[in-house]
Amino acid sequence: MAKINSSYQKLKAGYLFPEIARRVRDFSAANPEAKIIRLGIGDVVLPLPESIREAMKKAIDEMGKAETFRGYGPEQGYEFLREAIAKHDYASRSVNVSADEIFISDGSKCDTGNIQEIFSLDSRIAVVDPVYPVYVDTNVMAGRTGGMDAGGRYDGIIYMPSTAENQFRPEFPKEKPDLIYLCSPNNPTGTVMTHEDLGKWVDYARRTEAIILFDSAYHEFIADPTLPRSIYEIDGARGVAIEFRSFSKNAGFTGTRCAFTVVPKDLRAKNDSGEYVTVHSLWSRRQSTKFNGVSYPVQRGAEAVYSEKGQAETRGLIAYYMANAKLIREGLEATGLDVYGGVNAPYVWIKTPSKMGSWEFFDMLLKEAHVVGTPGAGFGPSGEGYFRLSSFAFRQNVEEAITRIKTKLASRV
Ligand code: MLT
Repeated sequence: MAKINSSYQKLKAGYLFPEIARRVRDFSAANPEAKIIRLGIGDVVLPLPESIREAMKKAIDEMGKAETFRGYGPEQGYEFLREAIAKHDYASRSVNVSADEIFISDGSKCDTGNIQEIFSLDSRIAVVDPVYPVYVDTNVMAGRTGGMDAGGRYDGIIYMPSTAENQFRPEFPKEKPDLIYLCSPNNPTGTVMTHEDLGKWVDYARRTEAIILFDSAYHEFIADPTLPRSIYEIDGARGVAIEFRSFSKNAGFTGTRCAFTVVPKDLRAKNDSGEYVTVHSLWSRRQSTKFNGVSYPVQRGAEAVYSEKGQAETRGLIAYYMANAKLIREGLEATGLDVYGGVNAPYVWIKTPSKMGSWEFFDMLLKEAHVVGTPGAGFGPSGEGYFRLSSFAFRQNVEEAITRIKTKLASRV
């Protein structure tokens, strides 16, 4: 009899966003007249910019001619895209990342989920709590944890609470972790680490020989020029950090799929005999075994993000979503709620009113205002009592949602 990987049975019933979608579907089926506004999952709504579509169409035409047709591409991604990333995302900010340290992929969700495979099963994992659920769930699936306790914490994971009480700056853990997941701009809290914050983590990782898995999928939403966009802006980070980035949110690729991961060649970790091994070689081995690359037209589309027109168009997308974030933030602040994020990040994180539980608040908004957000508890135990609203929506829906939430909250006073 085939046996399952029983670590899967330790997981909460459903992944957060499908679980929310299920609740919304059930509500919608029972209330077909309700006009539901979705500010839950961070999924973009604006169409792919013209420069990107044109580049993709041209690439498709190349695929239609024998002399320009391409079969399997390089597993690490085409050089034209890796070079464009190295130049525009890194060299332009005087950050030293070379094209051969960049691995193109179909998403940061996949990469942040898969990266743990190349590390020892007995690695101690530290996560900021609340956290993008993929970091935790993939470590549970891999068998690195015990079960979940009554407080919603998996045995074996180090949780670093990040709440309004500590200004969303978690303390260093008491136990020494081997892998530390950081995300800035943060999903879900919308807060951003400063140079000083990141510098402390890089020092900590160097001191403790830990590796930081730095998710900067939302870096393009940073408006404040004094904030770091890449962990490699910090001295010494190349020796302790892997960085994840994505075209999903800044360029509208959630359905098109393209992202990348940077693994510096000087990043090393120990094997069982205590010898140092380059992490780059392991990730390369993993990707070339399990991944056949992102399609050629999609990589041409991603390359076009860096063209002059592509930059102008994607700046327009970001400005649109950030204007939404401002509306959400200011609209909710006006109701007296405590509101965080939404300034250098597309997510707005609010404290639920009257100490309501976050799922309770979710149900109230869904049922009484027909607005969908994401309950903070879905991101981890320290997310309880918070709620996330996403700015990835059409303007009129954001305006309508805020009006409805305001009316709902006013009627409760
Ligand atoms: C979110 O809403 O947190 C994101 O859409 C998740 C993701 O990018 O996978």
